[in-house]
Amino acid sequence: MGYRVVVVGATGNVGREMLNILAERQFPVDELAALASRRSLGTEVSFGDKTLTTQDLATFDFTGWDMALFAVGSAATKDFAPKAAAAGCVVIDNSSLYRYDPDIPLIVPECNPQAIHGYAKKNIIANPNCSTAQMVVALKPLHDRAKIKRVVVSTYQSVSGAGKDGMDELWDQTKAVYNPTSERPPKTFQKQIAFNVIPHIDTFMEDGSTKEEWKMVAETKKIVDTAIKVTATCVRVPVFVGHSEAVNIEFEEFLDEDEARDILRESPGIMVIDKREPGGYVTPVECVGDFATFISRVRQDSTIENGLNLWCVSDNLRKGAALNAVQIAELLGREVLKKG
Ligand SMILES: NC(=O)c1ccc[n+]([C@@H]2O[C@H](COP(=O)([O-])OP(=O)(O)OC[C@H]3O[C@@H](n4cnc5c(N)ncnc54)[C@H](OP(=O)(O)O)[C@@H]3O)[C@@H](O)[C@H]2O)c1
Repeated sequence: MGYRVVVVGATGNVGREMLNILAERQFPVDELAALASRRSLGTEVSFGDKTLTTQDLATFDFTGWDMALFAVGSAATKDFAPKAAAAGCVVIDNSSLYRYDPDIPLIVPECNPQAIHGYAKKNIIANPNCSTAQMVVALKPLHDRAKIKRVVVSTYQSVSGAGKDGMDELWDQTKAVYNPTSERPPKTFQKQIAFNVIPHIDTFMEDGSTKEEWKMVAETKKIVDTAIKVTATCVRVPVFVGHSEAVNIEFEEFLDEDEARDILRESPGIMVIDKREPGGYVTPVECVGDFATFISRVRQDSTIENGLNLWCVSDNLRKGAALNAVQIAELLGREVLKKG
């Protein structure tokens, strides 16, 4: 016996990837419902070798469904996730709406699987921001060995992090550079994204940081350790899929770069590719469609007492969203619901 699973936002970037990953990992599904807005009513989406017809979230009855993987924005989540949860269907949510609620667990299964049992308070589990998820997979095993004091991270985030509209904007603007008659002014992004980089993701906060940067700080603390200090600069770059991060880590204890590489090699969800030669590192186009978070360029930072630098790359639609949500569903099945 398997699960009755709902994918909410099934026509979007993350929702489509959720359907792919549920099929790829052979998640024990008895029945699957694909939901989106009324705009997409009847749109067909693929689930393995099956084709599903999209239903309207607004009129869907969640009674009798085991779990719902939500990948819609915060507004639709706010309207519908509590209804699903109240109907007894466990919500695994990709939006930022519930991540900072102390009564809702925020989970990266490689880091804090024990938090799963907290789901029962509200019948909701939160999935972290894409840039946080890949970073904490690397930080957690290093923290367990040498206790992290402070992290300084700069991100290079792909346009798919802004949904399908973000991908269309990069595509159209890139074409327009060669054909100025089809000019495409910025809409999803604040400035031209083609052949450019933009140091601004999400809204500005009072202290001058952006919400995306604040999310990396708050979520790292909730998932790994409240004592870790994080400072982030988040930048949008003209890459379709795959987020990259340059991470500087200061530890309480000394950690040799070779030992750090060995620890990361042994850690779940991580692939170390780190040869000190041209091309001996991973770039975002190479991580697309992969489950792993890739670590390269591990090296001592000799400007501080116990410091390391590393380069971290992952498919933001996978580890940053859909894969992590499916891993949470697997954890929920294994530890709590115990079907399948
Ligand atoms: N992309 C990432 O890397 C990433 C990472 C982590 C978290 N997230 C989060 O995941 C969520 C989805 O992101 P995405 O990138 O997949 O966005 P997307 O490509 O723009 O897709 C949005 C999906 O939500 C549906 N939707 C929007 N409003 C709706 C409503 N009122 N009722 C029902 N369905 C509605 C859309 O359906 P229609 O096609 O019918 O409009 C579509 O299926 C967002 O909360 C985002 O912040 C994304």
